[in-house]
Amino acid sequence: MSFSAEWLALREPADHAARDKKLLRQAALWAGQNPVILDLGCGTGATARAFSDVLPVNAQWRLVDSDSELLDRAAAEIGSTAKTHLLDLNEIEALPLEGVTLVTASALLDLVSEAWVNALVPKLDVPFYASLNYEGTMNWTPVGQLDEEIRLAFNTHQRTDKGFGPALGPDAAERSAEIFQHSGFKVNCADSPWQLGPGNEKLLFELIEGIAQAATDAGVKNATDWCRARQDNLSDTDCVIGHVDMLAKPTHIS
Ligand SMILES: C[S@@+](CC[C@H](N)C(=O)[O-])C[C@H]1O[C@@H](n2cnc3c(N)ncnc32)[C@H](O)[C@@H]1O
Repeated sequence: MSFSAEWLALREPADHAARDKKLLRQAALWAGQNPVILDLGCGTGATARAFSDVLPVNAQWRLVDSDSELLDRAAAEIGSTAKTHLLDLNEIEALPLEGVTLVTASALLDLVSEAWVNALVPKLDVPFYASLNYEGTMNWTPVGQLDEEIRLAFNTHQRTDKGFGPALGPDAAERSAEIFQHSGFKVNCADSPWQLGPGNEKLLFELIEGIAQAATDAGVKNATDWCRARQDNLSDTDCVIGHVDMLAKPTHIS
């Protein structure tokens, strides 16, 4: 599944504000004094930027994505501390895990399948930080008649294949936490909702467009009406989109 650099840039400030800061700091601490961080599905490098205030300057990043344009942007922005790896994340055996002290993944787990998480976990013996996993809720103010139908259809669409088999979608954090716990990891989760309102009109506009498209694909007939009504009223709209951050730690790390 492809993501434009423009969309990723639009969502980055909302993501940054939403991340649970306690889990972010804990992940940075567990990365150690000489951090080597593998970021899965790095996009333009938002996760590295989110960690920049809490990591030592010697932190090294290994950035993995299947989109070479996004990787080039990430490399250009992060500079010499980043090494890029053009890889399909389905090739778990090919992940450059040697010497890594922390693995990260932002806005990724809702795209992957349960089978993918099951295949990844046995390869990890370092902490795993996965932030901004959509958890199925969206609350609009003012409330609209079609909101619930649209949300349910969007969530159905979120579970369709995004290149990894049936996607975890809204179950991403909960199911991943169970899988990590079952494999002996200690897991902490925290809410990281997008809180959108005045000042987020551009992001809201594109978000509404995307939600409506997914709802249409999932069979809602009048999603376009919902879309136009919402987009025509952006200055008077608040929206909370539920996300969950997860941090999992193998038991040998104290
Ligand atoms: C929602 S974006 C998140 C990007 C970034 N982590 C962020 O928070 O801005 C998901 C990223 O995963 C990448 N991706 C999706 N499927 C992939 C695959 N099969 N292999 C490698 N990267 C993939 C996309 O190219 C995109 O950069």
